[in-house]
This record gives sequence, C-alpha cells and structure tokens, in this order.
Amino acid sequence: MMKEKLFLKVVVVILLMSIHAWGADLRKGPYLIYTGTNTQMKMLWQLYETQTCKLTWRQFAAHPLGSVVTREYGTDHQHAYVIQGLTPGAEYHYTLSVGDDDYTGSFYAAPAEDDISLKFMVYGDSRLFPDTHNEVAGAMVAAYMDDPGFQKLVISVGDLVTDGDNEMNWDLELFDPQQENIHEMMASLPLQSCMGNHDLPGDLFKKYLPYPYVTDMYWSFDYGPAHFAIIDQFAEGYGVIGNTQIEWLEDDLALTEKKWKFIVLHGPGYGAGTHANVQEVQDAIQPLCEDYNVSIVFAGHNHNYSRAVVNGVNHVTSGGGGCHLYPVDVNYPFIVAAVEAHHFCKIDINRGLLTLSAETIDGIVLDKVTISAKENDRFQGDFSGEQNVNSAGGGCFIENLWSY
Ligand SMILES: [Fe+2]
Repeated sequence: MMKEKLFLKVVVVILLMSIHAWGADLRKGPYLIYTGTNTQMKMLWQLYETQTCKLTWRQFAAHPLGSVVTREYGTDHQHAYVIQGLTPGAEYHYTLSVGDDDYTGSFYAAPAEDDISLKFMVYGDSRLFPDTHNEVAGAMVAAYMDDPGFQKLVISVGDLVTDGDNEMNWDLELFDPQQENIHEMMASLPLQSCMGNHDLPGDLFKKYLPYPYVTDMYWSFDYGPAHFAIIDQFAEGYGVIGNTQIEWLEDDLALTEKKWKFIVLHGPGYGAGTHANVQEVQDAIQPLCEDYNVSIVFAGHNHNYSRAVVNGVNHVTSGGGGCHLYPVDVNYPFIVAAVEAHHFCKIDINRGLLTLSAETIDGIVLDKVTISAKENDRFQGDFSGEQNVNSAGGGCFIENLWSY
C-alpha cells in the first residue's frame, strides 16, 4: 500500500514537472480581455508558484509609460492588471518579467467612441483538439500579421474547453504555452467569449475570464462603432436564457446608439445542424434583432460554418475553431451558406457597410457577404467569384443560394 502511494506521488510530481517545463514560469498567459472602457486593457496570467512579477508598457520603443509590480490574488497564483490611461486605438508594447524571464507582446487599445471602422475576428468551439485549434489560431495570427487592422478583438462563440469544471482542460485546451499560435493570439488581442455548454458549470470560465457580467454570464460592451451583447444560454437552466436576461437584452439594445449591433451566443437559432435549432433564440432573440436592427447573431455549437438570413438578420454559426467537424444539412430553414470546415470569420466594418468573410486554415473563402447597417433587409451577396466552396473532407457545397 505504501509502495502504491509512493508510486502515485512520483507520477504526480513527474506530471506536474513536465507541465511546468512546457510553460517555464507561466502556466497561463499573458492574455488579454476587454472590460468595456476604451482607455483600459486587462492583462491576466497565472504561475505555478508564488513569484513577483513586473509589467511594463510603452507606446513606442522609447521610454516606458508605466510599470507595476504585481502580486498574486486568490489561491492559485493568478495575476491580473488593468493598464489604464491608454489612447483609444493606439498600439502598445509590453514586457512581463517573471523571475529571470521576460515575455513581450503588443496590443491595440479599443477604438475611440466615434470611430467609423472596425475589423475583428470570430470563431468558436475550439475545444478538445488543441493542435487543430492552434492551426486555426495560426491562420488568425497570419490575418492580423498581414493586416494589423485585425489585431483588434477576437470573439469566441463558446466551448473553449471540453469539461469546464476541469482545471487540466483549461491548461491544455486553451492556455497551453506550447500551442504557440493560440498563445500569441491571446497575448495580442482581447478574447471576448460567451459561455458554451462544455464550459459549464462556469466557475472556471469566470475564474479565467472575469468580464464585468451583469449577472450570471451575460453582459455587453461597445467597441468603436459596434455594440456586442454577450448572452448566457444557461442562466436559468441548461439551454435557458430566461425572461430576466431577455428583458435586460431589450433594454440594452434599446439604449445603445451604435450603428452596428451584434449578439454573441453559443447555441444557434438558425444553424445547419447537427444540433437542432434553439427555439428560444427564434422566439425571444429574433424579434429583438428585428426591432432593434441587430446585424448579426454569432453562434457556434455546430462544428461547421453556416449562415442563415431571417427577415434581414444574419445568423452566423462559426463552430469550426478546432473541435471535430459536423456535417451540414442545407435543408435547415433560412440557410444561405453552409460548409463543413475548420475556419474563422473576418468582419470588416467601414462606415455603413460590413463585409463578413469566412475562411479556412488554408485561406479558402467559404462565404463572403456585404451588408448594410441601415437597411439590413437589403442583403447583398458578393458575386466576385468567392462563392461557397466545398472543403476537403466532405463539406456540403451549396450553389446559387445567394438569393432567398
Ligand atoms: Fe456546444
């Protein structure tokens, strides 16, 4: 019995040592989240042991603008610091010193309130296969390397990990420093995510993603010309948004004066399978989208790409962030594009026009559409030759479904 216990202890120590070696001093991060004030950015990281850390930031290569020595909070060697006094839209460089190691990176402060353009990326369901997630993240990093305008914001539609209650899942599926592209992306632009069913029960989701929730896991924020409402579909039970949150959402959408309004949730109201469409999104969210001119509802849960257009509202399912793929069924209602492929979405807002482009890891454009903010019902397909295309691996090709 003693020998068995000793053996177990040795195995645990070896396992912890191997994990520690992957990330050197850092267990998670540094990574960024945006908490809703465009002169601030929140940086977070986690260590394996108690160490004093120093964070320094600068706008150019010149003198530091600020420097702070942080100390851990909670019981799990977590650190966080809100960098304040930022110039909206400006680029910043930072150095995080932990022991003898320096970690460097850069980010852009959130846009000014009156900005008329914004580029951002959307993806989701990145759980379970971190190597594939890392490939998708690599394409996203390449996107903002190619066009720094995309180093603004990344929206996740949830299911970041397979078992949200398992610390090891958060270590290996989202924050593994060995997955360099995921690490690079999360160190370079804020990750704004809704909670997926796999992220439940939510204690660790909130531990590592402490957004300023209204209550449960829903909240909203502005980013330049855009307003994002993040929905918690588990607030009043599994898959239940509930009346309290719907009433909040209506007030939220009524109050914002932003030209572009987006809703971010996990289970789609209008997807292309495998999961059934979520009735509550159809019954409670869709009418609000029509009343308050919401341009796009971003969702995931189905591990594929699809877009449905319902009374001028685009419902985009972007669940191809790394998990195993699901086939698409074009017979689902209102579907205008659907492809089974790992992918991410690029959104480019310029004044009153928005262009959405869904792209694979290899840069193949799966879907591309331009919509108008003022007249969402005047949906315009892009006929520039970038039609829906089949993906390797059995995706479903939809032809000439641009009109509806
Ligand atoms: Fe899901």
